[in-house]
Amino acid sequence: MVEYIFIDGKLYQENRAKISVNDRGLLFGDGVYETMRSYGGRVFMLEAHLKRLFDSLKALKFNIPFDKKYLGESIKESLNKNGLGSTDAYIKIVVTRGIHKSGLYLDCGSRPTMLIFTRKLQLYRPELYSEGAEIISSSIRRLSRGNSIYIHKSICFLENLIAKDEAKMSGALEGFFMTRERQVLEGASSNIFMVRDGTVYTPPLTQNILPGITRQAVLGICSRNGIRSREKSFYYGDLTGASEIFLTNSIMEIMPVRKVDNTWIGQTVPGIITRKLMGLFKDYTGENSSF
Ligand code: PDD
Repeated sequence: MVEYIFIDGKLYQENRAKISVNDRGLLFGDGVYETMRSYGGRVFMLEAHLKRLFDSLKALKFNIPFDKKYLGESIKESLNKNGLGSTDAYIKIVVTRGIHKSGLYLDCGSRPTMLIFTRKLQLYRPELYSEGAEIISSSIRRLSRGNSIYIHKSICFLENLIAKDEAKMSGALEGFFMTRERQVLEGASSNIFMVRDGTVYTPPLTQNILPGITRQAVLGICSRNGIRSREKSFYYGDLTGASEIFLTNSIMEIMPVRKVDNTWIGQTVPGIITRKLMGLFKDYTGENSSF
């Protein structure tokens, strides 16, 4: 089936969907994106995704010629055009700063380029959920303070791609970033959680990580269901000593982890709390209606 891509207000067949070679997204990686998932045609936590996108667009001084309502309607139009209006789908919005004229500044006055991709969802292998995934620590070390680049879902994705490649080369699903002091930050395309003594821990947003929407949903589920959770920084040694570990992102939802580098985690995978959260998360995605 032909796929249609939404570009600046119009839907184009994929082979006709083109943007300028002078686009600042291409030239400088000057753009941000969102990845979302729909369940039966409803975009999960759409408001939260659009808030994160608009917060970044404002913080990074983009001209914003559209509003959240327009984006929501454009997503719906794209889903319908691609025959995904009542099924589960992968949705990606990309906003770049548009055509480069001159000057390496953020406030260059260009009109942004806005793309929406809507595709059939490619799911992770079911065994990963029943047996757990393997993850590795990336060789890339990041700063957890002093800059705030990683709070944005930036299209400058090379560090993440390198971490993903390192993982693939060692047969793991995901690589994760740490500071030089080995404080655990986040996965290359996921947030990371661990369980110790019955409490769920995840690094705080003050550590220059992406404010993941699934992370936010999981913390909300914990607090509504009496599962103790804390946003608290922790070290590699804490992670490898955890009784349970899981990753979250919009496509994978909650992914249990069975091995970190060479260390096996937990007695049973998924662990008791991870399994409970996986069930509660499924209930939540079924209930949450955004349109
Ligand atoms: N990635 N951290 C990073 C670096 C990410 O790239 C992602 C998501 C997350 C989880 O965020 P969320 O729960 O909002 O999906 C955390 C998406 C899936 C991607 O790159 O397509």
